[in-house]
Parts: sequence; structure tokens; C-alpha cells
Amino acid sequence: MELGMKRISKLEKESIAEFANRLASECNKESTKSRKKGIGQFFTPPLTADFMAGLSNTNKTSVSILDPGAGVGILSAAIIEDLKSKDKVKNINLVCYETDKQVLPYLKLFLQEIKKDLSKEISFEYEIVEEDFVKSNSGSLTSNLNNYDGESKTLFDVVISNPPYFKLNKRDLPLRKFKDIISGQPNIYFLFMAISAKLLSPEGEMIFITPRSFCSGLYYNKFRKWLIGKVNIENIHLFDSRKELFSEQKVLQENIITKFTKNPVDNIKISKTYNGDFSNLETIKVSKNDVVYKSNGHIFFRIPSTREELRVIRELDKLPYNFYRLGIKISTGKVVAFRNKKHLQSTITKDSIPLLWMHNIKNGRISWPASYKNKPLAIRNTDESRWLLLEAGNYVAIKRFTAKEQKKRFVTACIFKDDFKRYGYFALDNMVNYVYREENELSKNQVKGIAKYLGLPIVDLYFRILNGHTQVNASEVYALPFPSLEQLELFGKDDIEVKEILSTKAKEIQRKTFDKKVMKPLYA
Ligand SMILES: C[S@@+](CC[C@H](N)C(=O)[O-])C[C@H]1O[C@@H](n2cnc3c(N)ncnc32)[C@H](O)[C@@H]1O
Repeated sequence: MELGMKRISKLEKESIAEFANRLASECNKESTKSRKKGIGQFFTPPLTADFMAGLSNTNKTSVSILDPGAGVGILSAAIIEDLKSKDKVKNINLVCYETDKQVLPYLKLFLQEIKKDLSKEISFEYEIVEEDFVKSNSGSLTSNLNNYDGESKTLFDVVISNPPYFKLNKRDLPLRKFKDIISGQPNIYFLFMAISAKLLSPEGEMIFITPRSFCSGLYYNKFRKWLIGKVNIENIHLFDSRKELFSEQKVLQENIITKFTKNPVDNIKISKTYNGDFSNLETIKVSKNDVVYKSNGHIFFRIPSTREELRVIRELDKLPYNFYRLGIKISTGKVVAFRNKKHLQSTITKDSIPLLWMHNIKNGRISWPASYKNKPLAIRNTDESRWLLLEAGNYVAIKRFTAKEQKKRFVTACIFKDDFKRYGYFALDNMVNYVYREENELSKNQVKGIAKYLGLPIVDLYFRILNGHTQVNASEVYALPFPSLEQLELFGKDDIEVKEILSTKAKEIQRKTFDKKVMKPLYA
């Protein structure tokens, strides 16, 4: 077949997967980074595709496969190779969805060539659906996804997918159909997951590589609840470095591979790759409750990836409180600079109220005024701006954005009543969260105790297991286990040590975690 100026066909000695990868390189040459980003097109690297296919347990003689967002067919190639290697399969039916006109000729060529290649051993039928996977399948779902029984649809034994990732405009979606799973602006990838879960045969399995974001955060809470009612998590795979996976294509986000199945699952297997090396996997088995964590009516998918991390969550889970139970709240600073420009001041006058940004958090306290990149120092106290202000009092300020690579996820500052007493108020930029109690204000020692507790390596590690993204979200802080207010008071006063807050075992983990060389850079 003619593609651009080139004639491409499968080489005699080339495997199906090698051929798919050669096509992907050719296809990539024709595209630009911004085009790929626009349509969410990043091809799966060969070792990752092999690993994903290897997670399939399908052992049937006739297998139906769905590859939504197929690209040139790398994942189809990997799963077909895997099925072939098991020497059992006689018939394969593959359905690929793809919308990109530039990639479609490659996909067509690929499937024609492998049909020829497989013809001696396996009966292989395929269909390329040149339609938007979400739109064309949401049409067959009822307004409530729960009610759709899938009778009129072809169901699949295996769904394997690296779906596109980009935010969708809600106006472009038949939202009624997705009301059970969407809150906020949806990213297309999780709609691929939801539809796929509905298209599985009774013993079907689906293997996805996606951003980790669906595992935590409020936006995906509905989806998580819905998903665990449909399928069971069987495998989770993490990548140690955000840079490693799509490095050639310069994609910088945290990705995970998840395998879900309709079959009952005893243990969830969690593995992790270091530097993209799948030959050296660290795998642990955990129970469903270690991963599917319910707190305050929310569901999170926690991902402990080492035995030590597993012990950390099991131990901290024994603590009896969380912010809800302690009557403590966490909110986001109210000042959005570009919306409140007219109230902001770069010089301090007699009607100024201190405005605090992330850069004012220094060594556990607030350093104000502090000039930084021409950021305004204060906010004018007027009737119109009053709603943006917080009364001087006792609070813990927490930076809202800290990346996985940073030493500490919780960067905090204690704020005491006396700090801003003479102004009566202070204001917080919305990149800063604040922790407070509405009735019975937190005492100074409780504030210190909370900040100290959030700074413990074991709590930091727990949070990383719970939260896979850069935001320190209120919903996940609410889900953190906490000791009682009395203990926080004593801890803040330095009257008790960590070991009296945490169980003895947790204290031991804390020491080991802290001592372990590999952890040192995180906590130094
Ligand atoms: C992240 S790429 C992955 C490609 C391939 N599965 C792989 O693993 O190499 C996602 C693919 O989905 C396609 N795509 C984007 N939006 C789509 C949609 N709404 N329906 C079907 N395919 C879509 C893109 O053109 C792109 O080829």
C-alpha cells in the first residue's frame, strides 16, 4: 500500500508487533507534537504493550477483542501475539475504533497484512469503525448506564486500550447518558473505560493504560463508585518515573496500567517498573480493601506498590479519626488574583490586609511581607472585598500544589491569631488551602500538632499512596487518618512523641521508612 511517498509491507522475519511498531515510527514522522496532543495520540511503547497483553488470562479458542482508539494497532498486535503464544486460540474477531484520517491508512495496512500472516494458523476477522468511540456507543446506552444490559451489542472477551487523553467540552456530549459517572469537565479517557466496562462479555477483561487521575480526586468519585459495581480490579501497574513511559514523545504525566475483570478476584496484584524495565518487577498482592478505600462517602483507589507501603496504610488506617470526625475543615484560599485585581495592592496602606501566597510559606510559618515576582502584597479592606478575607485566628496553611518529585507533599505553615491581630483579617491566594475549625477554634498547639503530623514521613507516604497527582485536594486530606484532638494538642506541645500517636508498629515503619536510603531524598 502507498503511504505518503513510501511503500510499506510486513517483512518475512518481522513479528506482528515489530511490524506495528515500524508503522508507528513512520506514522509519527508525519505528525507534529501539537497535532498529536490535540487528538490525544501517543503510541504505546513495545515493552509496555507486551506487558499489557501479558495481563490477559483469556484462554478461549474463540476470542473477541476490542481496541478503542487503536492508532496503528500496536495493542491489537500485542494481544494477538500473546494469544498466539498460548497456542489455544483458533478464531479471533477484532474491532478497532479510530477517527484520525492520518493514522487510518496505517491501521488498515496493518490489519490486512496480519490477516495474511495469520491465515495459516488462525481464522482472523476484523472491523475498523471510523467513528468516535464515545459518541457512537453512548447512543446505545440508556440514560442510566446501570440499566443498559448490553443485549443488543456485541460484547468482547478482551478490551485493550491506550485511549486518547484530553478534556471534553460537556456541550459535545449526550450528558444525560453519562450522569452516573461525570462531574466537572470530563476527560475522554475515562469515558472510554466506562463504555468498555459495559461492552465486556460475562467473563470479559479490560486492560487500560491511562493517567492515574481517575484513582483519586472528587471529579472521578462518581466514576470510581460506578466502576467497582461493574468490574473488579485485578492488576495495577505503576511507573516509577513520570518521564519514563512516553519519553520519546515527551509526555509528562503519571500513567498507570489497570486490568479489570468481570470474574471474581481474590487479590489485587500491584507492580511497579523502574526505568521502564519490565524484567525487574516488584509485585505485591493486596486485598481489595487495601485499594478500594471508602471514607466519608467517597471511594478512592489507593495504590501501595511495596510491602512497606502496604504496612503504612494498614497501620495508619487504625487511627480512629479524620478531619470530618474531628470537626475540622479544609478549604481553598478565596483570592483568585486575575478575578480580584481591583482589590489587590502592591504597596501597603492603612486599609491593607495581608495577602498570603504559596511563597509566603517558609519554614513552617508565614513570612509576610515578602516580595516575589511582583505579586501584590495585600488586599484593600472594603465592603466589596470583605468576603475574600479570613478572620485572624488559628489555622494551618497548606500549599495546594506539590509534585510527586518534591521532598514533601505537605508544605505547611502555622498561622496564629496574634500574627494578623492588628489587621483583624488576612487573605489567602487560591493556591493555598487552609485548615480550621468553625466552632471551638483550633488551639495553637492543635495547629502545631496538625502541621507536625502532616510533616511525618509516614503520613507523607500514606498521602502519596492515596493521591497520585500534583494537587493536595481537600477530599483526600479529609480521608487521611488522624489521631484525636487531645493527642494533637499534646503532640503540638511536644509533650508526646510520635510513638504515642501512632501504634508501635507504625512507629517502627516510620523509623525504617526514614532510615531507608532510597527514601532519604524524599524526606531530607
Ligand atoms: C493514545 S493514542 C493510542 C493509540 C494506540 N492504541 C496505541 O496504543 O498505540 C489514542 C488514539 O485514539 C484515537 N482517538 C482519539 N479520539 C478518538 C475517538 N473519539 N474515538 C476513537 N478513536 C479516537 C487517536 O487518533 C489515537 O490514535
